[in-house]
Amino acid sequence: MGSPFNRSRALTLHSMTPILILGAGRMGGAIAAGLAAAKAYAPDAFLLVDPHPGAEALDLAARGARLNPPLGELAQARTVVLAVKPQTWREAAKLYAPHLRPDATLISIAAGVSCSDLAAAFTTQVIARVMPTTAVAISKGVASIWSASEIGRTTAATLFRPLGRVVELPDERFMDAATAVSGSGPAYLYALAEAMSAAGVAQGLAPDAAAELARATLIGAAALMEASPLSPAELRAQVTSPGGTTAAALSVLQGEQGLPQLMTKAVAAAVARARELG
Ligand SMILES: NC(=O)c1ccc[n+]([C@@H]2O[C@H](COP(=O)([O-])OP(=O)(O)OC[C@H]3O[C@@H](n4cnc5c(N)ncnc54)[C@H](OP(=O)(O)O)[C@@H]3O)[C@@H](O)[C@H]2O)c1
Repeated sequence: MGSPFNRSRALTLHSMTPILILGAGRMGGAIAAGLAAAKAYAPDAFLLVDPHPGAEALDLAARGARLNPPLGELAQARTVVLAVKPQTWREAAKLYAPHLRPDATLISIAAGVSCSDLAAAFTTQVIARVMPTTAVAISKGVASIWSASEIGRTTAATLFRPLGRVVELPDERFMDAATAVSGSGPAYLYALAEAMSAAGVAQGLAPDAAAELARATLIGAAALMEASPLSPAELRAQVTSPGGTTAAALSVLQGEQGLPQLMTKAVAAAVARARELG
């Protein structure tokens, strides 16, 4: 199997468009807006369907995307991104499946919803699952992809490559773990910023100063990690002098029942929830 990037060259823009986004909320809107901002596709390459479209979808519609076209027009779509909540995907499938062309590629980003369930509800022959992060909106996302078919993997990789990194999973069973580590991951960083800020306040910092210090520190550290070839462990070692202040903090964070154990429990809880949603 070649890399998704080589394979993706075989797909022309024409063979993937129009791109139909079913559910243009936070993530569906971010994907469409991110692709348009990256100039991967023009706004008029998108069909957006959503009873309450988000700001990004409305902006894209003002620039040429078709918003809530008649159901008969959905048959134009060659790529269909299912981006409704996992709780409402069956209802969406009932509404839209009869209108989709069978040779379109269905790409589902719904957490926990399996390809076999999707195949039973949609008539599209090619199905892929993708778990993106919210940073796709600014082409700094990462998308875990899986499909049983080559064309599904290629289409998904081609669609998400302009939005950041693409990680191809070897088996669908890893999708829940990728969701727990990556799809939900941005929330973990924001929770860390909140906790650091609260801890600063507990040590006497003004709330505004603590919030700014926590936020800017994490943004800067993430940017350094992006720019560096070193692993997170190596970067951590670089800023930890033996016997110093950082080492004192890490002895708590990485001690018994510290961050590794907490994160293991958190990710396991996310995996369990993905299985329930599916
Ligand atoms: N947000 C994330 O960080 C993230 C990350 C990875 C994957 N995902 C996946 O992305 C999917 C969407 O999540 P989200 O956070 O973007 O949710 P969201 O903001 O609620 O977006 C879903 C959108 O779908 C609309 N919708 C509901 N039923 C519909 C229907 N029948 N036809 C068309 N649109 C319909 C909703 O409208 P109403 O508001 O009227 O219900 C809403 O605007 C989920 O399956 C989730 O697992 C999300």
